Amino acid sequence: MTDPAPAPFQGQPRVLSGVQPSGALHLGNYLGALVKFARLQADYETFIFVADMHAITVWQEPAKLAAQTREIAAAYLAAGLDPARATIFPQSMVPEHVELAWIFNCVARLGWLDRMTQFKDKAGKHKERESVGLYTYPVLQAADILVYRATHVPVGEDQRQHLELTRDIAAKFNHDFDAPSFFPLPDALTEGPGARVMSLRDGSAKMSKSDPSDYSRINLTDDADAISQKIRKARTDPEPLPETMEALKARPEAENLVAIYAALAETTPAAVLEEFAGLGFGAFKPKLADLAVAVLSPVSARMRGFLSDTGELDRILKAGAARAREVAAPTVAEAKRLVGFLGA
Ligand code: TYM
Repeated sequence: MTDPAPAPFQGQPRVLSGVQPSGALHLGNYLGALVKFARLQADYETFIFVADMHAITVWQEPAKLAAQTREIAAAYLAAGLDPARATIFPQSMVPEHVELAWIFNCVARLGWLDRMTQFKDKAGKHKERESVGLYTYPVLQAADILVYRATHVPVGEDQRQHLELTRDIAAKFNHDFDAPSFFPLPDALTEGPGARVMSLRDGSAKMSKSDPSDYSRINLTDDADAISQKIRKARTDPEPLPETMEALKARPEAENLVAIYAALAETTPAAVLEEFAGLGFGAFKPKLADLAVAVLSPVSARMRGFLSDTGELDRILKAGAARAREVAAPTVAEAKRLVGFLGA
C-alpha cells in the first residue's frame, strides 16, 4: 500500500537565499541571484544571508573572512535589498542553522550525498583530502532553507540539485516524524536568461569564482575599462548574430553573450536577436560592454559606499540576525520536539 499524499504545507510563502563569501562576486552571481533577491522582496517575506559557514568548507584566511562577509552584505544592499523589507544576516550569527543541520545529517542518506555533482566537481580525484564539511555542505544548505520553512529559493541553475536534495530531506523528515506538512517542499526559482551565465573564455563552463583566468568572468568590482576589455576579448565565432534562437543553439559563446545582454537589459534573448540579427561581434561587443558598464558601475559605486561605513553595515547584519533567530528558533524547537529530545 502506498502512503497517502502528505497534506500541503499551510505556512506563509517565504523566500530564502544566500551567497558564499569565498571570493569576488561576478556577473553570474549578480544576474543569477542578487537581482532576483531585490525583485522578490516586494512580494515575499525575504531572508537573505551570507553563507560564511559554507565558505569554510574550503580554506578561508581568518584575517579575510570578515571583510569578505561584509563585501557580500554590501553587494546585497547595492543590488537593491532593503533591510526594512528583507532580513539580511551572516549565517554564523544564527546557530539554529547548524542545530537543524545535525538533525538533517541523520535524516539524509549517504547515497543521496554521493550523487551530488558539485561535491564531485570540487573534490576532483582526491576526495579523501577534502573536509567532511564539503561533503555534508548540501545538508547545511537544506537546513538554511527549512529553518525558515522557506517555500521559494532564488538561485542559479547550478543549485538545482541541492534544492532537490532539500525537498527529499523535508519529505523524509515529515514522513519519519509523522508531521506530514511540517516542512514545505521548497521550489527553486531559476527562470530568466541570467540563471546560467557561462565563462567568457569557454561557453561550456559556467562563470565561476574559482576559474584561474580573471578574463573568464566580470567581477562586480571591475571598473569600466576592465569590463570593456574582458568583453572585447571574450571568445566568439566569426558568424554574425542569427535571426532565430534555434540557430544560436550550436554556438555556446554567442548564445552566452546574447543571454548576458538580455539579462542586463531585462528582456529576452529572442528580443535581443530581433534587435541585433545580422550584426557581427565586432559591432555587438561594444554595445554589450556599454550596457554592462551602465548597469554594473552604479552597483559597484554603491557597494563601495556601503563598505565605507562598516559600523552601519555590522549594525544591519546584527539586527538581521536577531530577527532571523526569532523565526528560526521556534522551527528548531518544534523539530527537536518531533525528534523526541528531552526538554524540547
Ligand atoms: P554561490 O556562492 O556559489 O553562488 C551564489 C549564487 O550565484 C549563483 N551563480 C550563478 N548564477 C548564474 N550563472 C553563474 N555562472 C553562477 N554562478 C553562481 C548560484 O546559483 C547562487 O544562487 N550553495 C550556495 C550558497 C547557499 C545557498 C543556501 C543558496 C548556501 N545555502 C541556501 C540558497 C539557499 C552557493 O554556493 O552559492
